[in-house]
Amino acid sequence: MRFNKIFEFETIDSTNSYARSIAANATEGTVVTAGIQTGGRGRGDNLWSSDRGGLYLSVILKPGLPLRQTLPLTLVAALAVSDALKGRGLMPRIKWPNDILVEDKKIAGILCEAGSSGPESNYIIIGMGINLENQIPPGLPATSLLEETQEKVDMKEFRTCLLEIFASRYQIFMESGFGDMAEEWVKAAGVSGRAVRERKSGKTLGRFLGLAPDGGVIYRPGGNEAGTLTATSYETELDFLEE
Ligand code: BTN
Repeated sequence: MRFNKIFEFETIDSTNSYARSIAANATEGTVVTAGIQTGGRGRGDNLWSSDRGGLYLSVILKPGLPLRQTLPLTLVAALAVSDALKGRGLMPRIKWPNDILVEDKKIAGILCEAGSSGPESNYIIIGMGINLENQIPPGLPATSLLEETQEKVDMKEFRTCLLEIFASRYQIFMESGFGDMAEEWVKAAGVSGRAVRERKSGKTLGRFLGLAPDGGVIYRPGGNEAGTLTATSYETELDFLEE
């Protein structure tokens, strides 16, 4: 994938919203970035605080796959962000499904949105927000690259590096699917063997066994039968508990 077209805004409401508005006529690999977002969005109804100094970026993808098969892309993006931060000396952890934490403080988040401009022309917007040098509003359990490393960050350099990593992971996904990366995600999340609990109901579903090729969670309930939550369960808040 080539990033031939990069829209760079000083200020915009949300790079994901802008990307969505141009997606139908844009080519794959079109990127939208902004210095500040006035209405940065997170998963659910959350806002994404987007002061100057952070990296706010959306990539338009046109994988040409049925929507269901594209669901793991959100996990692929989380791995790419985690890699880019590792390259700066951090030891990030992925929190289900795609928050990136450093010592339990959030440093980055991913918002994937899908749309369609015709039966065969689905598009996916991968939105990534990374706290590089931006001020974190007081009281939030969050951190930034600057806070963690005490080193100035060249935003463009970081962006280029992240896009390269993402492109290479995307290529692997398109050629061989999510299978090989599933293991990496499990490692990066550190959830092997943990108890899977649905946050809303407080119900423990079983023991985590791994990720399915569609990016869903495979777990073992009390007995021997394995249970699966499909990748649509990204909407379900899950906790992975040590027991
Ligand atoms: C989350 O943690 O809930 C996801 C946060 C995603 C934020 C990014 S910043 C760039 C893109 N534009 C948005 O409005 N949101 C995403």
